[in-house]
Amino acid sequence: MKQDARPVLYLAFMSLAGIFSPSCYAATPAAQSAAADDLRAAYATPQDIAEGKRVAAASCASCHGSDGIAKSKDTPHIAGQRPGYMLTELRVYQSGNRGNTPMNNAVKFLSEDALVKVAAYYASLDPASPASGSRAKGASAPDPVAAGKAAAAGCSGCHGDIGISDQAGMPSLSGLDPKYLIDAMRAYKTGQRKDDMMKTLVSALSDTEISNISLFYALQKPGKAKTPSPGDQAAGKSAATACAGCHGETGVSTGTAPSLAGQDAQYFLMAMRAYKSGARADEAMKAPATSVDETVIKNLAAFYANQQPQPPRVRKPLTTAEMADRCNRCHGVDGNSIDPRAPALASQRAEYMERVLRAYQKGERKSKAMNAMLDGLSETDIQGLAGHYSRMKARSVVFMPLPAK
Ligand code: HEC
Ligand code: HEC
Ligand code: HEC
Ligand code: HEC
Repeated sequence: MKQDARPVLYLAFMSLAGIFSPSCYAATPAAQSAAADDLRAAYATPQDIAEGKRVAAASCASCHGSDGIAKSKDTPHIAGQRPGYMLTELRVYQSGNRGNTPMNNAVKFLSEDALVKVAAYYASLDPASPASGSRAKGASAPDPVAAGKAAAAGCSGCHGDIGISDQAGMPSLSGLDPKYLIDAMRAYKTGQRKDDMMKTLVSALSDTEISNISLFYALQKPGKAKTPSPGDQAAGKSAATACAGCHGETGVSTGTAPSLAGQDAQYFLMAMRAYKSGARADEAMKAPATSVDETVIKNLAAFYANQQPQPPRVRKPLTTAEMADRCNRCHGVDGNSIDPRAPALASQRAEYMERVLRAYQKGERKSKAMNAMLDGLSETDIQGLAGHYSRMKARSVVFMPLPAK
C-alpha cells in the first residue's frame, strides 16, 4: 500500500470492529475505552505515518528493514501487521513484560507518540509474500488416520478391512484401545510376545506407522467377529464374573486390560492357552488363565464373542487445516485478521511463529486466549500450524479515503 498525499484513515477498521466485534474481545465500557486507546495507531493520518517512517529508519530498520520484511529468521515480518496489535506489543516490550533484549532496548526511550506513529507506519506497508511450500519443517501434518489406513492395507487379509475378523483364529483389532494395540505390536517386535509371523510383519513398521495403524483401527466402528463361537454362553457369562473387574461386565474394558467383547472365539481360546502355558507371559493373566479349564474357556469365549464391542474412547486428531479453522476465529480467514488488535499470521515467518507458540505453551509469553489455545497441542501441531500460516497469502491493512470534513 502506497501512501502518497491522499488523506487516508483506517476507516474500514472502525466499521468492521463495529460490525464483527469478535467474541474474543470483551465489550464492557471500560474495555471499550481501553480499546479505543489501543486503536490510536489505527486512526493515524498520512502525516503520522510519514513521521513514523523516520522513527523506523532511526530505530527499527536495522533489524526489520525499512520495508518491514525481516532478513533474519529470528526476526518477525511486521509489514502490514495490525496497528492496534503492534502498538500493544510495543508497550509490552517497553514495560519488559515481553522479554526480548533487542526489542526491549529498541523501544526503551521512545515516547508513546513515537510508538503510535511507528506502528502506523509499519502497518501501512505491503506484507511479506507467502513462504514457498517445500520446506520440510512446518509441512502440514499428514492425516494420521488416513496414513494408518494405508499402512494397514496388508493386515486386512487376516484381520478384516476395518479390523473385524472373519477368519477363525484371527483376532479382531477394532474396539481395542490404541495403547493396547501399540503395546501388542511392540511386544511382537521385541519378541516378548512370541509369534514369528506377527514379528516379521510388524518389524517392517516404524513407530509412527504403528501408532497410526492403532489409531485407524481404534476409530473404526467395531462389530462382533464374523466367526463361529461354539460353547455355552450362559455358563460363560457366570464364569466371566471373575474377569469383570479388569475386562468389564460385558468385556468392554475401561481400564488397561484389553476389551474382549466381540472377539473371535478361536483366538480367545489360543490366547488363554498361551497364558496358561506361559508362552504368553503376563502377570495379570497368569492366575485367571490357570484357574479355568478347556470347557470353561470355550464357554467364556462364546460369551465374549457375542457381546457388543464398543469404540474405545479416542478422538480423531484434528488435521492442521481443521486446527487452523479454530485459530481463524480470532486471527481471520487464512490468518488475515480483520480486527486491528489481533495479529495477522498470514505469511509470517514459520520459525518465529513456532518460537512464539512454544513461548505461549510454556507460559513465557502471556495471553489468556493463546495460553489456553496451546493447551494440548503437540510439537508436530505447532510446526504444522506455523508452516500453514507462513504459506498463506497476506492481505494488507485496509486504507480508505477519508471524506473531507
Ligand atoms: C536489534 C534488532 C531489532 C530492532 C532494532 C527492533 N526490533 Fe522489533 N523485533 C526484533 C526481534 C528479534 C523480535 C522478536 C522478539 C520476540 O520474539 O518477542 C521483534 C519483534 C517485534 C514486534 C512484535 C511482532 C509480533 O508479531 O508480535 C514488533 C511489533 C516490533 N518488533 C517492532 C519494532 C519496532 C517498531 C522497532 C523500532 C522502534 C523495532 N521493532 C526494533 C528485533 C528488533
Ligand atoms: C497372515 C495373517 C496376519 C497378517 C497379514 C497380520 N496379522 Fe496380526 N495377527 C495374526 C494372528 C494369527 C495373530 C495372533 C497371534 C498371537 O497368537 O499372538 C495376530 C495378532 C495381532 C495383534 C494382537 C491382537 C491382540 O488382540 O492382542 C495385533 C495388534 C496385530 N496382529 C496387528 C497386525 C497388523 C497391524 C498387521 C499388518 C501390518 C497384521 N497384524 C497382519 C495374523 C495376521
Ligand atoms: C487383574 C486383571 C485381569 C483379570 C482378573 C483378568 N484379566 Fe485378562 N487380561 C488382563 C490384561 C492386563 C491383559 C493384557 C495382557 C497382555 O498384554 O498380554 C489381559 C488379556 C486377556 C486376553 C487376551 C486379549 C487379546 O486381545 O489378546 C484374554 C483372552 C483375557 N485376558 C481373558 C481373561 C479372562 C477370561 C479372565 C477371567 C477368567 C481374565 N482375562 C481376567 C487383565 C486381567
Ligand atoms: C480467542 C482468540 C484467539 C484464538 C482462538 C487464537 N488466537 Fe492466537 N492470538 C490471539 C491474541 C489476542 C493474540 C495476541 C496475544 C498477545 O498479546 O500475546 C494472539 C497471538 C498469536 C500469535 C503471536 C503473533 C505474533 O505475531 O507474535 C500466534 C503465532 C498465534 N496467536 C497463533 C494462533 C494459533 C496457531 C491459534 C490456533 C491454534 C490461535 N492463535 C488461536 C487470539 C487468539
